[in-house]
Amino acid sequence: MNVIAVANQKGGVGKTTTAINLGTALAATGQRTLLIDLDPQGNASTGLGISRAQRTKSSYDVLVGDVPIAEAVLPTCVPKLSIVPATVDLSGAEIELVAFEERTHRLQKALAQIEDAWDIVLIDCPPSLGLLTLNAMVASNSLLVPLQCEFFALEGLSQLLSTVELIRERFNPGLSILGVALTMHDRRNRLTEQVSADVRAVLGRVVFDTVIPRNVRLSEAPSHGVPALIYDYRCSGSEAYIALARELIGRLARPKEPAKAA
Ligand SMILES: Nc1ncnc2c1ncn2[C@@H]1O[C@H](COP(=O)(O)OP(=O)(O)OP(=O)(O)O)[C@@H](O)[C@H]1O
Ligand SMILES: [Mg+2]
Repeated sequence: MNVIAVANQKGGVGKTTTAINLGTALAATGQRTLLIDLDPQGNASTGLGISRAQRTKSSYDVLVGDVPIAEAVLPTCVPKLSIVPATVDLSGAEIELVAFEERTHRLQKALAQIEDAWDIVLIDCPPSLGLLTLNAMVASNSLLVPLQCEFFALEGLSQLLSTVELIRERFNPGLSILGVALTMHDRRNRLTEQVSADVRAVLGRVVFDTVIPRNVRLSEAPSHGVPALIYDYRCSGSEAYIALARELIGRLARPKEPAKAA
């Protein structure tokens, strides 16, 4: 089971859009894919059409309430893609988790119960480096970092990387950076081009070749409760996520690269 945390403590960089559409593309290639919504905003759950009423068991119950994770798994409109939804309760988890001795290992423990039931688990992290994201990093084999092509793209990345280093030293030596995905790329915008060139110069091969374009279809799809790949599978955004899935599967098959990203 490959567990991948989609993380960046910066808000609005495309974590959820990536988790949903990459998850859909992976499922379409036959990978049994589980998306864990670990963000109290619950955007991944909403974007996959899971109503509030359906979220009777959620990632909060799994982390804080000892509910077996299999009981919280719901099917989605995409065959082979399931989700553990999030509710707003999860916003209290950052504080409630402090009371547990193994507060950083709650998700890892939960995932151990479903070892090998899924090929790929994607965790949609909240925009912070709090206990929820730490749980995701401890439970994961690797990290996928969406990076928005804007002027401050690299700001905050060093903080993310030092957190990864810390997790590696203390809890999860095997944690690697699977890749950095450039998102919301606008070819007509010179600044975007410059930023993506700079990011590639600094981070090198860890950056995926595939770039996710700025595409209005990607932002429209969640309001219809379906992935962009179902809303409009031929739009540039859908095509990019299919290409990213292909690239990601290639990386997963390769022997592990040295974990350093920069
Ligand atoms: N490639 C794209 N093209 C156009 N709009 C996009 C693209 N990627 C994401 N968006 C839109 O940008 C907004 C932020 O994206 P998203 O929710 O995926 O980011 P996030 O990192 O998960 O945010 P948060 O940190 O709040 O969880 C959303 O409205 C989304 O629809
Ligand atoms: Mg999000």
